[in-house]
Amino acid sequence: MEILKTKAKMQAWSAARKRQGKTICFVPTMGYLHAGHVSLLEKGKPLCDELVLSIFVNPTQFGPNEDLDAYPRDIDNDLALAEAAGTTAVFLPDNTEMYGENYQTRVALDHLPHHLCGKSRPVHFGGVATVVTKLFNIVMPDVAVFGKKDFQQLRVIRQLTEDLDFNIRIVGGDIVREPDGLAMSSRNAYLTPEQRKSALCLSQAIDIAKTQIAGGATDVIAIRDKMTDHINGFDHTAIDYIEFCDPVTLDEVETIGGQVVLALAVKVGKSRLIDNALIDPPQ
Ligand code: PAF
Repeated sequence: MEILKTKAKMQAWSAARKRQGKTICFVPTMGYLHAGHVSLLEKGKPLCDELVLSIFVNPTQFGPNEDLDAYPRDIDNDLALAEAAGTTAVFLPDNTEMYGENYQTRVALDHLPHHLCGKSRPVHFGGVATVVTKLFNIVMPDVAVFGKKDFQQLRVIRQLTEDLDFNIRIVGGDIVREPDGLAMSSRNAYLTPEQRKSALCLSQAIDIAKTQIAGGATDVIAIRDKMTDHINGFDHTAIDYIEFCDPVTLDEVETIGGQVVLALAVKVGKSRLIDNALIDPPQ
């Protein structure tokens, strides 16, 4: 496994592989890898000849009062997990390598960032779109794998790939959960043992909604009220949003008439946790 710290070295590595007729699969991350990231690497491994992981805690996707400085880091463990999953190269740039002194370009989408997480994190998706565009140009992959836990991010990436004509196949990796249902996240590391118990409210609230919808409920307000009551029954929780949306436009729906994405964000202690599910109403 090669570790490449500069854009020039990464581009040269990818260009050399392409000249040999090899295909490249890419898994971008902010590090502090867990089983969810490993599952993305495992999903990507058989899709191409080479498997590239990037680790970069991207400052432009964090707002002024967010957890950039506290974001957990453990490079040695990341590299060990990456190697065990069959990664052939790791792109590990620092901030100056990615955003030099005179950096001034941003990638912005018109609609998708104004929904869900974008409402309370106004700079987030611009930062994600910008860094992913740069990473695509640096790594030059044929396939890129992103987790479905960040449903909105996956939609943003699919949209920018189409809009900016990247010849890259975007693959979504399933959410990986702890045995009790909590979706894996690097931010789970911030939870105290007590908050860890409260963090279960997200997946449990999704289960409540699924049961309601399977039983024929279609009124979003009524379903959301049940979810809200459940989450508010846990200590240390503050709901950011619970929304039912069209899976493509992310526009909110008021009545469940077809497939919807149920997405929610809840602050548990200091950690802002997200979870989601695609739900089909009964036929
Ligand atoms: O999902 C993440 O870890 C990040 O948002 C990404 C896609 C690596 C961009 O910084």
